Amino acid sequence: MESVLAGQSQQVTVTSQRLDHQQLPGKVVAGAVPFCCWGARFLAHRMPVSGIFLRMLSGSPAALITGASRGIGRGIAIGLARLGYGVAINYVTRREAAEECAALCLQAAPPNSQARFEPIQADVSRGEDRARLLEFACDRFGWIDLLVNNAGVAPRTRTDLLQATEESFDYVLATNLKGPYFLTQAVANFWVENLFKLSPERHKPKIVNITSVSAYAASVNRGDYCLAKAALSMMTKLFAIRLAEYGIPVFEIRPGIVATDMTSAVKEQYEGRISEGLTPIRRWGTAEDVGRAVAAIAEERFPFSTGEVINVDGGFHLERL
Ligand SMILES: NC(=O)c1ccc[n+]([C@@H]2O[C@H](COP(=O)([O-])OP(=O)(O)OC[C@H]3O[C@@H](n4cnc5c(N)ncnc54)[C@H](OP(=O)(O)O)[C@@H]3O)[C@@H](O)[C@H]2O)c1
Repeated sequence: MESVLAGQSQQVTVTSQRLDHQQLPGKVVAGAVPFCCWGARFLAHRMPVSGIFLRMLSGSPAALITGASRGIGRGIAIGLARLGYGVAINYVTRREAAEECAALCLQAAPPNSQARFEPIQADVSRGEDRARLLEFACDRFGWIDLLVNNAGVAPRTRTDLLQATEESFDYVLATNLKGPYFLTQAVANFWVENLFKLSPERHKPKIVNITSVSAYAASVNRGDYCLAKAALSMMTKLFAIRLAEYGIPVFEIRPGIVATDMTSAVKEQYEGRISEGLTPIRRWGTAEDVGRAVAAIAEERFPFSTGEVINVDGGFHLERL
């Protein structure tokens, strides 16, 4: 299935094809030519570019952030807005929270910023919603410079491993793993199919996956969540390797214990443990802490890194004796 972006000229396409050299229309240039040859590639394959292309040249960079209405995703959106990014603010049910996030982003944006902040409902666990999300972002922003896979859920109830249910497993894995895996695949294919038409200096897409200390720290009362985060961590490596040839770095940010709605149910429990030294830096993490880390990636502070894990956890990961 191939769809040309609605109302635009036909140079930037969104398809549901898998990332595969044999299938790509841009195979000759997209797969085989080194990153440094993009200028020549651009000239050789110059398409009838107008609408979207011109918008991309003049417009603000754009980020697609899943689960950006509240919590960590909102902190990331505001952090990127400060840098002049426009943001597609994905949410699943809370439209008003997403609109509030858009208003906060607008306040945070630099004075002369042209950036737009657009709420978009989509359930990342559903294939048709992911396709609609990508199409929306491309339609409104013309291009995606940064994909942040942030949306995630905790199990509805924390349940011991010996009683944990398949229903909870499917719910957590569909949102926290299947969603980001296939959204990343779709966005990666969009980039691979269109990057060669653009200036390599100005178009350097990036991916950030928000995992958790649960990617390696075992909690036997939420095994499904730990498994999803551990797999998301592997997903970072997989896409980092696969997309390196296109100049697309992939990063994993591993937050520790962050004050959001997700942790509000266990607030008191963690309060005590943090003050007793669970984390060497004895405070809760904030959404802004994570937003700053994503901003550093957006600003290309790590130009020779990919697949890297950035811990934003107050030192939780440090082994002590
Ligand atoms: N809080 C922590 O201590 C902590 C620590 C480590 C990692 N993390 C990870 O950080 C990410 C954000 O967590 P948070 O604490 O900010 O959570 P949160 O406050 O509960 O916010 C969750 C966000 O994800 C969205 N969302 C939930 N299910 C979705 C779906 N199926 N499709 C699209 N969006 C969906 C929600 O949208 P609505 O507003 O519409 O519901 C909301 O924007 C998660 O991946 C989480 O696992 C959190």
